[in-house]
Amino acid sequence: MDDVLTDELLTGIAAIDEQHRNLFVRAGTIVDALRRTHAKSDVRRLLDFLDSYCAEHFQTEEDAMERLHVPDVLKHRTAHKVYRGRVRVLCEELEAMGASADLAVRARMTLVELFVEHIKDHDLPMARHLRERADGDFGL
Ligand SMILES: [Fe+2]
Repeated sequence: MDDVLTDELLTGIAAIDEQHRNLFVRAGTIVDALRRTHAKSDVRRLLDFLDSYCAEHFQTEEDAMERLHVPDVLKHRTAHKVYRGRVRVLCEELEAMGASADLAVRARMTLVELFVEHIKDHDLPMARHLRERADGDFGL
């Protein structure tokens, strides 16, 4: 899933881009495990791992936005909550139906496509504000 983070999705803030890259790698591992119908418990572990990585990553962004008084923090924070809610729905679907090619498709939509949209809609504008305000030191 290395090809997902194209240049147009780079924020130009190394710490954030690195975390996005890691998130896509983890997402790819999950989609793959679902496609190969790995055991529920194994996929669940991967999803929990991704979710805790998301929590850390989102906190990094929210802290930087608060520190540098970036506008629309609340909207961005809400988008983070919505995203984590979608990950929880995937967990529930996994619990109910087990790993399948069908769930792999939905996981790809949530973990990859929705995340790409999140970067475009929220992270790129946030990065622009951070760059304007931080003067090269993002404190990350
Ligand atoms: Fe974000």
